[in-house]
Amino acid sequence: MSSRLDAARPETAPAVTTRFRPAIHFTARDTWLNDPNGLVFHHGLYHLFYQNNPYGNVWGNMSWGHATSPDLLHWTENPVAIACDETEDIFSGSVVVDHGNTSGFGTADAPALVAIYTSAFKAPSGHGGTQAQSLAYSTDAGMTWRKYAGNPVLTRNSANFRDPKVFRYHGEHGAYWVMAAVEAQQQKVVLYRSEDLKSWDFLSDFGPANADAGEWECPDLFPLPVDGDPENTKWVLIVNVNPGAVAGGSGGQYFVGQFDGVRFLPDDGSLAAPAGVSSLADPRAAAAALPQCLWLDWGRDCYASVSFSNTPDDRRIIIGWMNNWDYANELPTAPWRSSMTLARELRLTTAGPTAVDGSVRLVQQPVLAGPPAEVMDTVQLHDSAVRLPDAVPGSAQVIDAEILPGSAGRVDFRLLGSSDGSEGTILSYDTRSARLILDRRYSGNTGFHAKFASAESAPLVLEDGVLTVQIVVDHCSVEVFAQGGKVVLTDLIFPSEGSRENWLSVEGGPATILKLEVSTLA
Ligand code: FRU
Repeated sequence: MSSRLDAARPETAPAVTTRFRPAIHFTARDTWLNDPNGLVFHHGLYHLFYQNNPYGNVWGNMSWGHATSPDLLHWTENPVAIACDETEDIFSGSVVVDHGNTSGFGTADAPALVAIYTSAFKAPSGHGGTQAQSLAYSTDAGMTWRKYAGNPVLTRNSANFRDPKVFRYHGEHGAYWVMAAVEAQQQKVVLYRSEDLKSWDFLSDFGPANADAGEWECPDLFPLPVDGDPENTKWVLIVNVNPGAVAGGSGGQYFVGQFDGVRFLPDDGSLAAPAGVSSLADPRAAAAALPQCLWLDWGRDCYASVSFSNTPDDRRIIIGWMNNWDYANELPTAPWRSSMTLARELRLTTAGPTAVDGSVRLVQQPVLAGPPAEVMDTVQLHDSAVRLPDAVPGSAQVIDAEILPGSAGRVDFRLLGSSDGSEGTILSYDTRSARLILDRRYSGNTGFHAKFASAESAPLVLEDGVLTVQIVVDHCSVEVFAQGGKVVLTDLIFPSEGSRENWLSVEGGPATILKLEVSTLA
C-alpha cells in the first residue's frame, strides 16, 4: 500500500480533458476512483459504491463513493456513502440486502442494506497497521450509512486481510452468510461463515494457485449454471492479482470448481500447474504458466471485478475498475481520474475454442441497450479497407462484426484514428498465430507513463472459420468481446483531439465481411 501512496503524485494535468469523459462508463465528477465496492440491486436501482478519494484525483483518503443507475449505463453520483476518518480508511468490500434481518439492523419488513468493508486502521484507532472487517448499515435504501458500534467484526491481526465479498449460501445444512476475503500477500482466499454478519467462524482457505506472483485482492465466489442447465451448477472463484497479470500489472483470474459450503475445490481443468507447484518459488515458471491461467480479460485495464448481489432473475453481472496499478495515478485526465468497465453479464459454457476437453469457461457479455444499429453492406475485402462511421463526441460506439478471414493474413480494425492514418488503436486478428491483438502503441498520448504503450493479445480459435467481435469504443477506452464473449480485451486509450475515424481493412488475401453494424449510445 505504501508504494501506492508514494506513486500518488499531485495533479500534473491541470487542463480539463473533457474529450476523454466516457458516455456510458461511470466516472466520478471531479475525484479519483478505484475498485467497485458493494455492488447491489435494490428497489429498482443498481448501486455502485466505489473506492474514492473525496478530496483529490489520486489514490488516498479512501472512502466509499456512491452512484446509482436504472440501467447500468447511465449513472448518477450521490454523496459519499462511508467516509474515512482519523481512525480508518474504508477499503473495498461488499453490500448485502439482509432479507431475514439476521443482523437486527433493519426489520423483517424493511431489511437493512449491510456493508461489509475493510477497515484499514490508522494509529489513533489502537489497531494501527492492521486490516480487519467492519460493518456499516443503511435503512434508507443506501443513501446514508451508519457504522456498527461493535467494529471490527473480524480480525486476524494481519496487515493484509481485506476485500470481503459476502453472499447468502443455501446448502443441505441450511442457510448462512459466507465471506470470501484475502490474505493478500499470502495469495490466499480465506472463507468464513456467519449467522448474523457480526460473528464469523473460519471455514477454509484456498491458494496460492495459478497466477500467484502478485498480491491477491478482491475475490468473489458464486454459482452459475453450466450452459444454462440449472441441474448442472459450478462455482466460480474470481481472484484479482496485482502485479503478475497476463498483460502486465493488475488483472483478474478465475477458477471453476465446486463449493460445498466449507471449501472451494477447483476442477482439474481450471489449474494451470499441478496443485502444489507454486510458481512463487520460480518466476520463470510463473511467467510460462500465465497463458494457461483463466483470465477474465486479456487487456491491460480491467481490475478488481466483482459481481452484484440481489440481482433480478439471479443474473450474475460484474463491473471492473478500468485501470491498471502500473500507471493508475497518472492517467492524463482532469478533473476526474479513472472509470469503471461496462457491466458484463457472466455465463458458464463448455463450448468453444477456449474450452479444452469439455472444461468449463466463463463468457462475458456487456449489458447494452440502445437504438438500432447502422447496418453496413456485406462485402468482400482483399488488401482493401472500408470506412465505418466516425465517432461522435458525447457518444459511445458499438461495432458488431462477423468476418470470415478465409485466406487473409490479417483483419484489422483501426479505431479512433487520425485522418492521415498515423494514429489509431489497432484491433487485429492474425490468422497465422490465431491471436486477437489490441495494439495501443499509436493510439494518441501514450507518453505519460513508460508502461502505458503496449500491445496485448489473446489466443482465439475461429468457430466455423468465423471471427465474431463486439467492440465498444467510448472516448478513452476500447472493450472487445470476441466469439460471443469467450475472449475479452480491455484497454484505455487517449487519442488526439479530432482522431475519430474507424476503419476495417484486410491484408494478404480475401476475407468476407458477413456482418458489420455500428450503433451509437449516449
Ligand atoms: C485493489 C485494492 C484493494 C483495497 C483497495 C484500496 O485495487 O488494493 O485490495 O481494498 O484497493 O483502495
